[in-house]
Amino acid sequence: MKLDLRDVTKVFGTTRALDELSLQIPEARVLVLIGPSGGGKSTLLRVLGGLEVPDQGSVTLNEHRLNADPESLQAYRRRNGFVFQQFNLFPHLNARRNITLPLEKVHGHSPEAARALADQSLTRFGLLDHATKLPSQLSGGQQQRVGIARAIAFSPEVLFLDEPTSALDPEMTAEVLELIQELAEAGQDIILSTHEMGFARAVADQVAFVASGQIAESNPPQALFNAPVSPVCQRFLSRVMRY
Ligand SMILES: Nc1ncnc2c1ncn2[C@@H]1O[C@H](COP(=O)(O)OP(=O)(O)O)[C@@H](O)[C@H]1O
Ligand SMILES: [Mg+2]
Repeated sequence: MKLDLRDVTKVFGTTRALDELSLQIPEARVLVLIGPSGGGKSTLLRVLGGLEVPDQGSVTLNEHRLNADPESLQAYRRRNGFVFQQFNLFPHLNARRNITLPLEKVHGHSPEAARALADQSLTRFGLLDHATKLPSQLSGGQQQRVGIARAIAFSPEVLFLDEPTSALDPEMTAEVLELIQELAEAGQDIILSTHEMGFARAVADQVAFVASGQIAESNPPQALFNAPVSPVCQRFLSRVMRY
């Protein structure tokens, strides 16, 4: 994918969540956003995914220049997959139905086609045995994997993940990170935010450090983690990498 953001600003009340943020990425498979809490990562992901319209600036993802027209925004959103920190599964629907429902209602598939796609997606992630379980009958890691299975069932152009493992214990974190790595290796374009620095380093081909609503620095992981140039990124990494 390629990405071009120019002077993007998003204000909530008196908070400038994004403050004239610019970022140009000519080519990347996996872009990872890191940085302090409150820095603007979630807002940036939401803007990139078309869930939030910026107050100012331009956003171009691949060939699509985003605009505020509700119809084109909705069409754009439908092409992308989203996974959030809190798994966002429908609690009263089983794993399979959580996947087939949006395929039918949002993407217009027949029930049969939706079921076939859902089962393909569940099988891919070793979840088919859990197809008829409710979210409450699944572990956190399994729930998040169902969330990812749902997000990729219709082959999204870009998969967005906002801190997908921050609500998970270490073992479940590993199973979800392995799955994301697998998707990346299979060619899925991904933009994700995470606090897992080891994972960011392993999976990203581009890392952007987001702080105070701006990109303090953006580089391939080797460069960014080994030799950060901006003082904010140096300070952040020296603190989080210490333990
Ligand atoms: N819907 C919202 N309403 C008000 N303030 C918000 C909203 N979303 C984000 N913010 C504020 O914008 C800033 C950036 O938040 P966020 O994008 O969530 O950062 P991060 O994901 O890096 O923690 C924070 O100060 C946050 O409180
Ligand atoms: Mg966030």
